[in-house]
Amino acid sequence: MDKAKRKAIIAGNWKMNKTPKEATALLNEITPLVKDADCEVIACVPYVDLAAAIEATAGTNVKIGAENCHWAASGAFTGEISTGMLKEIGVEYVVLGHSERRQYFGETDETVNKRTKAALAAGLKPIVCVGELLWERECDITEEVIARQIKLDLWDVSEDELKNVVIAYEPVWAIGTGKTATADQAEEVCAFIRAQLAKLYNQDAADAVTIQYGGSMNDGNADELLSKTNVDGGLIGGASLVAEKFAAIVKAASK
Ligand code: PGA
Repeated sequence: MDKAKRKAIIAGNWKMNKTPKEATALLNEITPLVKDADCEVIACVPYVDLAAAIEATAGTNVKIGAENCHWAASGAFTGEISTGMLKEIGVEYVVLGHSERRQYFGETDETVNKRTKAALAAGLKPIVCVGELLWERECDITEEVIARQIKLDLWDVSEDELKNVVIAYEPVWAIGTGKTATADQAEEVCAFIRAQLAKLYNQDAADAVTIQYGGSMNDGNADELLSKTNVDGGLIGGASLVAEKFAAIVKAASK
C-alpha cells in the first residue's frame, strides 16, 4: 500500500501552554488558515482548554485531542482525567506516552499500554509516542528501544483497534531542541516502526497505520520530512503555537 492511501495527520501538541481564552484566540486564527487542508488537522490542548477548544472548532475541520488520560473509568486517582470525561465533551484524540510524561512523570510502557487500551475501548484515538534518548542513539540501540516500546505499548491491542491508533516517532533529542532528525533518519525509524507493526500484526494492517514524525518539525523542514514514504504526518510542539507556522505545515502535508 502506498503512502497516498494512509491518512496524513498533522497534530499540534500544545503542552502546558495557553489559557482557555488564549486557546480560543489561537484556534480562531488557525481554523480559517487550514480550512482547505487535505489532511487531518488536530490540536491537542491542556485539559482545561478542551471545552473552549471544542467550541472554537465546532463546524470546522479541526479536531481536538487531549494530552493524556487515565486508564480507570473512575475512582481515587487525584488529579487524573478519565476517557469517559474526555469522550463526553467531544474529544476525539489523545496523546499518550509523550516523552515528557515518560521523563518527568514516571510514565512507563506498562502505563502507556493501559492508557492506550482504555482510550481505544472508550472510542478515543490514541497518538502513541515512541522515541529514543540521545545516548540510546549514540549507543546504537535505537531499533531495540523502538521495538520494545512498540511491542509493549501496543500489547493486547487488536488488529481492529490498531486502525484507530496513530504512532508518533519522536526522537527525544529532537524535542524542543531545534535539532530535527534528518528526513532520512526520520524515514529510517518510521519504516522500522512499520516493519515492527507488520511483524506484530500483518503487512496490510501495518501499511494502514499513520506514523507521524515529531521533534522540532516546523514550516521550514516539514516539506522534506513529509516527502518521505513512511512519514505520514507530524506531531508539532513549538510551531503549533504560531498559527501561520502550523498552517504552513498543514499545507505541506496536504500536497
Ligand atoms: P517540538 O515538540 O515540536 O517543540 O520539538 C514536539 C513534541 O513534543 O510533540
